[in-house]
Amino acid sequence: MNVLVTGSSGLIGSEAVVYFDRLGFKVSGIDNNMRADFFGPRGDTTWNRDRLLATCRGFSHTGLDIRDREAIDRFFVQNQFELIIHAAAQPSHDLAARRPFDDFDVNATGTLNLLEATRRHAPNAIFIHMSTNKVYGDGPNRIALKELDTRWDYDDPEYVNGIPEEFPVDQCLHSLFGASKLAGDILAQEYGRYFGLRTGIFRGGCLTGPYHSGVELHGFLSYLVGVALQESPYTIYGYKGKQVRDQIHSHDVISAFWHFAQDPRPGEVYNLGGGKENSASLLESVARIEELTGKRPQITYSEQNRIGDHICYYSDLQKLRSHFPDWNLSYSLDEILEEMISVMQRR
Ligand SMILES: NC(=O)c1ccc[n+]([C@@H]2O[C@H](COP(=O)([O-])OP(=O)(O)OC[C@H]3O[C@@H](n4cnc5c(N)ncnc54)[C@H](O)[C@@H]3O)[C@@H](O)[C@H]2O)c1
Repeated sequence: MNVLVTGSSGLIGSEAVVYFDRLGFKVSGIDNNMRADFFGPRGDTTWNRDRLLATCRGFSHTGLDIRDREAIDRFFVQNQFELIIHAAAQPSHDLAARRPFDDFDVNATGTLNLLEATRRHAPNAIFIHMSTNKVYGDGPNRIALKELDTRWDYDDPEYVNGIPEEFPVDQCLHSLFGASKLAGDILAQEYGRYFGLRTGIFRGGCLTGPYHSGVELHGFLSYLVGVALQESPYTIYGYKGKQVRDQIHSHDVISAFWHFAQDPRPGEVYNLGGGKENSASLLESVARIEELTGKRPQITYSEQNRIGDHICYYSDLQKLRSHFPDWNLSYSLDEILEEMISVMQRR
């Protein structure tokens, strides 16, 4: 199979490269290292590109920019792609407000460029679009919550399994990032429903793994572990540090994509995160890292939460599991942390 991965030096893209290379496929990666431009030297993904080039035999890389419509179109004419994993993005909530044009050009227009090139030159390909739970904006904050000792949780039986795909997406605060990602998400759905392309849309919770270039503004768990190991300063913004996120290992993300690719349903949307079983609050994550390493960051608490930040979010995985009964989470939260700690200690 001939696979295209956009954002191939990032967390999700690089995991996709490794996964499909191991299956013996030819994998072309696109990444212009814009993460370094967005986040500075800590966001630089060159090390990850070089790791892939050194270890994945069927992998080739190009520094194309997904905003470059003509170049993307030409690339599709030159290659007959059968599976497209679209993971290139401006991924930060907070950064989008500082760079609204770049955010929209990458997340919305870049996605349109890829979808249209697929429609013109690879109409039978499977197109996986990596979306986000921020498409639901701060709507989940309106669900009744209960405050427990170390975390918030839903206090409404309707959400006992987490947030489902039917959750409303409008009339709430998204951040510009949530808005640009929602535009890309709807476009990918529309290319499935209107044009019949085999698109699948996956709305991520907290996606994580050791190959993230974690920075304060994006890559929560990887950044937290890095800061804890160095016992450096870390600021908790609002919600008493009890805000809850569901963590999924990047390997389990790509395995969900592969299940979809073998039995695609055009235009379908799935929530994809660690679910309730892999959820933890910030306080709980700090405590667990300390138990595992004996180290903790120097924490400062700010009363002010990040604008539009979720208080409690975990994905309802029932739809994904019902469509793909053989898919499951292979990494527990502890296993995610242990692997991340051991890789970072060696780096
Ligand atoms: N990491 C998470 O917690 C999380 C959660 C929900 C959704 N997502 C989504 O998953 C996808 C992948 O996220 P990630 O965590 O791997 O991010 P990442 O920043 O690690 O990877 C994205 C990659 O895209 C590249 N890129 C950015 N702009 C580009 C452009 N114009 N042309 C070519 N390449 C470009 C970057 O250099 C980077 O390597 C994104 O769509 C993101 O919104 C991530």
